Amino acid sequence: MTLSRATDVPRLPPRKPEGHKGSYGRVLVVAGSRGMSGAAVLCGSAALRGGAGLVTVACPDEILDVVAAGNPCYTTVGLTSPGTTDLRTRGPDYDVIAIGPGLGYGPDKQSLVRTYLAAYPEKPLVLDADGLNNLDIVGFDNLSRQVPAVLTPHPGELATLTGKTTNEVQANREPLAVEFAARHKVVLLLKGNHTIVTDGARVYTNQTGNPGMATGGCGDVLTGLIAALLGQKLSPFDAACLGAWAHGRAGDIAAAEVGQAALIASDLLAYLGKALREVE
Ligand code: APR
Ligand code: MG
Repeated sequence: MTLSRATDVPRLPPRKPEGHKGSYGRVLVVAGSRGMSGAAVLCGSAALRGGAGLVTVACPDEILDVVAAGNPCYTTVGLTSPGTTDLRTRGPDYDVIAIGPGLGYGPDKQSLVRTYLAAYPEKPLVLDADGLNNLDIVGFDNLSRQVPAVLTPHPGELATLTGKTTNEVQANREPLAVEFAARHKVVLLLKGNHTIVTDGARVYTNQTGNPGMATGGCGDVLTGLIAALLGQKLSPFDAACLGAWAHGRAGDIAAAEVGQAALIASDLLAYLGKALREVE
């Protein structure tokens, strides 16, 4: 099934009058490292703007204060604080886990990704950036979960995952994405102009967005947004489709206001609300 019209995009679930924080999802964002604290701030902030009830950003202790100062509306927890990576104690606190923006690469990050992948197969999960890059060592074994994981590579990241070149990925975007999603039983969102979302059977080709969004941090916003939509109980495929659409639409509204050249990732946060109002 091929979907590409704006009317193909699922709506944002309505908020009930009696709704409370727990009704809209508790999101854990695992992100950031020294020099990449902004990725954690953007991702956590996007989860908030995407409508999550509660957001916690887990990041290395050395950047905890910087990340906390980035937004007063989420809580923070240090990744090396006692108990943090023991998901037997922390996991039940969250409905959705997003892993990867700015996390860094190496043995400690691989063990972190492995831990989160193995735990709670029934919980929705978003893997992006270094959450994907560390998979070369972690492996693909735990990708198939009760609730399919959402993977959000840019073409270079999908090239690394598939052992192809970025040019090969770009020349075969849809078949490669469909094949990967079917083989690993995940929802794959392949970024770029006309982002593709597929679960191996359905394919959605996004029509929003513009090259003003080719600026560092825009991908981190998408990760947090999709996590928030999963927390509002959209299916992984629907959350990825609506996330791609609303992210691009926020970019189009931002570009109309400030121009494509001046557009920066935090502008997407500012306009996400306007974009989401169009699909309420
Ligand atoms: N048209 C539409 N959308 C676009 C366009 C375009 N021409 N260019 C970029 N975008 C969108 C993508 O679809 C995606 O949602 O902007 C977002 C960019 O996301 P990423 O490529 O993940 O970029 P980001 O992570 O924010 O920053 C780049 O990622 O892998 C690292 O080394 C890389 O440090 C760099 C960082
Ligand atoms: Mg990225």
